[in-house]
Amino acid sequence: MNDLTLMSLAAEYAAKARPENTFENPRVGAIIVKNDQILSTGFHKAYGMPHAEIDAFNHLRDKDSVVGATMYVTLEPCAVRGKVGSCAEEIKQWQLSRIVIGASDPNPTTHGKGIALLRQAGIQVDILNTQDSIRLNPAFHHYFQQNESYVQLKLAQSHNERVTVAPNVQTKITNQVADVEIHRQRGSKSAILVGSETVIVDAPSLNVRYISITHRQPLRVVIDRRGRLINNQLINKQGWLVYTENQAFSEREPNAVLMTAGLPGILKDLKNRNMQSIMVEGGPTMIKSFLKLNLWHQFIMYTSEQLLPDNGVNGLHLDQVPDHTSYVGNTKKTVYINHRRPSCLQE
Ligand SMILES: NC(=O)c1ccc[n+]([C@@H]2O[C@H](COP(=O)([O-])OP(=O)(O)OC[C@H]3O[C@@H](n4cnc5c(N)ncnc54)[C@H](OP(=O)(O)O)[C@@H]3O)[C@@H](O)[C@H]2O)c1
Ligand SMILES: [Zn+2]
Repeated sequence: MNDLTLMSLAAEYAAKARPENTFENPRVGAIIVKNDQILSTGFHKAYGMPHAEIDAFNHLRDKDSVVGATMYVTLEPCAVRGKVGSCAEEIKQWQLSRIVIGASDPNPTTHGKGIALLRQAGIQVDILNTQDSIRLNPAFHHYFQQNESYVQLKLAQSHNERVTVAPNVQTKITNQVADVEIHRQRGSKSAILVGSETVIVDAPSLNVRYISITHRQPLRVVIDRRGRLINNQLINKQGWLVYTENQAFSEREPNAVLMTAGLPGILKDLKNRNMQSIMVEGGPTMIKSFLKLNLWHQFIMYTSEQLLPDNGVNGLHLDQVPDHTSYVGNTKKTVYINHRRPSCLQE
C-alpha cells in the first residue's frame, strides 16, 4: 500500500468522529504501519479525549512494536497541549522511523512546530498536503487560515416556503428526527445566532438537547439593534450575548454590548471572542441579511412536507444549485456552499 492509500484510510478513521463530539477540535485519524502490516488505527473521538496519534498507540497490542514503525496521520501532531503534554512530545519517545502527515495544522500554536519537534528527534517526516483534513474540518481550517469565524446559515420551512402559520405565532416545522440532526449541528458550533424577533416570538432556549455533549454549550447570540429585549428574562442569563445599537439598553443589560458596525462588525467581534463557527438560526430576516451581505459559507435548508397558510411568515428561496441534498426522516436537507467567498473545501 502506498502513502496516499494509507492516508485515505487514516482519513476514513477520522471521519468516524462526529463533529458535535469533537466540537472545536478537528477530526483526525491515524494508522501505525510496519512491514506492510497495519498494526493499529485510531481517531480523535471527542473534545477532551485522546488525540488520534495517542488513540492509535493505545490500540497497539504490543507497544514495543512501535519501534521502527511508520505513522500516518491526517493532521500535523500538536505541539502545545496544556497539562498533559503535546502529541509531538509523546511521539518522540516511541522511536518511530517515519511519520507521514496529511496536512499541516493551521492553528498557530502548532503550525510547523509539531513537524519541527519530530524532525529534531530524528524522525523522518513527510507531508503529503492532502485535502482530507480540510474536507473533514471546514470550520477549523477556515477559522485559522482566513482569520474569521465560519458562518453556517440554517432555516427550516414548509413545503410552500413558510416559516409560521401566521405572523407572531410560534410554529413547529421540523419533526423529532430532524430536531436531532439540528441539535447535532448546534453541538458542533461555537455560537448560535438569532434575530430579536425570533426571541420575542419563540423564546428559544438555543441550547444543545436530544444529544449528549461533553463540551460547553454554544454561546447564544441575539441581534437586537433597537433594544426591544430590554425587559426580556431570557437574555439576561449566563451564556447569552446581545448586540444592540441602543446605548441605554447596553448600559442597563450586562449581556448587551453596543455594536454600530453592522453584521461585519458583529462577526469581527465574535472572531475576537474566539468563536470558530457560528450557526445562524434565523429567522428569515436575519438569514436574508447574511445572504445579502455575502457573509456566509454554508447554508442548510430543512424543508418539511407540510403546507402552511399563505399568510404565514415567508421563508426564502435560494437561487443557487445545491451542493447536495439528502433526507433526514421525511425532511429534505439541502446544503448550499458559498463559492463567492474565500473559503476552504467543504464536506
Ligand atoms: N423555521 C426556522 O428555521 C425559524 C428559525 C427562527 C425563527 N423562525 C421564525 O421566524 C419568525 C421571525 O422571523 P423574522 O424574520 O421576522 O425575524 P428575525 O430574523 O428573528 O429577527 C428580525 C430582526 O433582526 C434584526 N435584524 C434584521 N436584519 C438585521 C441586520 N442586517 N443587522 C442587524 N439586525 C438585523 C431586526 O431587528 P432590529 O431592527 O430591532 O435590530 C429584525 O427585526 C418567527 O416567527 C420565528 O418563529 C423560524
Ligand atoms: Zn495532539
